[in-house]
Amino acid sequence: MSRVAIVTGGTRGIGHAISVALQKAGYRVAANYAGNDEAAQKFQAETGIPVYKWSVAEYDQCVEGVKKVESDIGPVDVLVNNAGITRDAMFHKMTKDKWDAVINTNLSGLFNMTHPVWEGMRSRKFGRIINISSINGQKGQMGQANYSAAKAGDIGFTKALAQEGAFKGITVNAICPGYIATEMVKAVPEEVLNSKILPFIPVGRLGEPEEIARCVAFLASDDAGFITGSTLTANGGQYMI
Ligand code: CAA
Repeated sequence: MSRVAIVTGGTRGIGHAISVALQKAGYRVAANYAGNDEAAQKFQAETGIPVYKWSVAEYDQCVEGVKKVESDIGPVDVLVNNAGITRDAMFHKMTKDKWDAVINTNLSGLFNMTHPVWEGMRSRKFGRIINISSINGQKGQMGQANYSAAKAGDIGFTKALAQEGAFKGITVNAICPGYIATEMVKAVPEEVLNSKILPFIPVGRLGEPEEIARCVAFLASDDAGFITGSTLTANGGQYMI
């Protein structure tokens, strides 16, 4: 029987590409989303991948959501913690709401989603947790104190959990995408994108969502069984670590 994968934020942007790549690799995929019903329905109609609506920022919703996926499709073998939001503002203009929204989704979301699948992975002695962090968690980014803090936290979470999962057959890895051609990046003011970001990407372009999806498919595969606690950087050379 093919493995089951949940992709959070799996109907749009990088998550859309990840869901499709895992489906092509033979997984039974469940794509979670939080808000955009129209995009989710379109995604489901186009791909045949079932969609499930809940917020990764809400622990109880995650527990219920995972239960539903497991009863519909089967025990979760692969969890891709991809859901993420931005609420960019210079720190002197950053409100507590913007801070909380990003921390709750981009950092606490990893606890909320991983906790409900962890015990099952431990008992079955197999699991793959793949956390989508960011270049801005590695290098920091002005206007993103909230986002950079959360994404750096995702890397710490990855390394700690990798140590706990290793002897139970569970690998836990992070991927740090650079600037990828999605709605999130297109929301950056054009002037900032053209003058402050693109000139500093040595390959000379934004990344494509599929370039991140291929990293996920590799880390989820049996070929990656010896890789855990790692951070895979895919940023066109913008930040080398
Ligand atoms: N890199 C370098 N400089 C930047 C910058 C960036 N990413 N963003 C803004 N600046 C500079 C501006 O050019 C400006 O400089 P000047 O005064 O010399 O012109 C200065 O910072 C202040 O910027 P604004 O005038 O735009 O100030 P604002 O208060 O109106 O807006 C902002 C500030 C919200 C941070 C806005 O500039 C912005 O959205 N910047 C983009 C921030 C960013 O890179 N976000 C990443 C989003 S994509 C993502 O997060 C995905 C991922 O994982 C990579």
